[in-house]
This record gives sequence, C-alpha cells and structure tokens, in this order.
Amino acid sequence: MLPERLREEIRAVEKRYSTKRSAVMEALRIVQREKGYIEKEDMEEIACMLGMRPVSVNEVTAFYTMYNIQPVGRYHIQVCRNISCSLLGAEHLISYMERLLNIKVGETTQDGKFTLSTVECLGSCGTAPMMQINDTYYENLTEERIEEILKGLE
Ligand code: FES
Repeated sequence: MLPERLREEIRAVEKRYSTKRSAVMEALRIVQREKGYIEKEDMEEIACMLGMRPVSVNEVTAFYTMYNIQPVGRYHIQVCRNISCSLLGAEHLISYMERLLNIKVGETTQDGKFTLSTVECLGSCGTAPMMQINDTYYENLTEERIEEILKGLE
C-alpha cells in the first residue's frame, strides 16, 4: 500500500482536474519519483483512487516510456532511436553503449549503476543524436562524448 503522504499528494492533484482520472499521469509520476518505478499493486491502488480500471492505468504505463515498470539503475540512460536520432547514428551509439557497459538494452549493470533503455522521440531532434540520463538531456552525441559523460557520473 502506498504511504499515506503519497495518497494525500495524489488526492491534492486530483482536485486540480475536472475528472479524477485526468490525474493519472501525475499520480504515476508521484509514485515513480518516490519509488523509482511503479509496481502492479501501485497501478491498482491508483486505479482505485481515481475510479479507473487497473488495465487503463496499466495502458498508460505501457504507452509512455517515461514510466518505469521495473527497477532501474541509479542512472537510467534512455537513448532516442526515433527518426532524426537514427539518421544520425543512434543505432550505432546504442551498440557502442551496450559494449561499453557490457549489458543489452533493457538491462542494468551488475553494480546497479546503469540501466540502458531506448525510447521514442524526446523532442530534441535538432540536436540529435541524443539521450536522457535521469532528468538531464545529453545532445550531439558521439562515442567520445558518451564515454566522457558516463565516466563523469560517479
Ligand atoms: S528523433 Fe531523437 S529527439 Fe527527436
């Protein structure tokens, strides 16, 4: 069960919308901010609070890549593989990162430091190829820049 303070925060968010279900994305964000990811039980609880079917909440998390439905590493690397980034080498850079981190897309390093994911357009096409690590964008990526960025993360 979600802690009462999170339930209160979700109830406060609900009040900003004309329909309770409109608060679903914000409710999911609150849970993820707190726990790092969203479990099935959390989705069920959010559904109950917002008067939705659990499957509808699940569909939101399945559609938007910004929601983690399993634990991620301390640094969650999300590499855009949409058209602009792909045209400028995203696939090559993804393979490079897989080799560098010794993991495949969707996996987390053994020390729990990095999770590597691919995502759809992050709205930074003009500075492709790009990636997001936690809440920070890194743009105009090259192999050298990626190595430097990852080394800079303690
Ligand atoms: S295609 Fe990569 S940011 Fe838009």
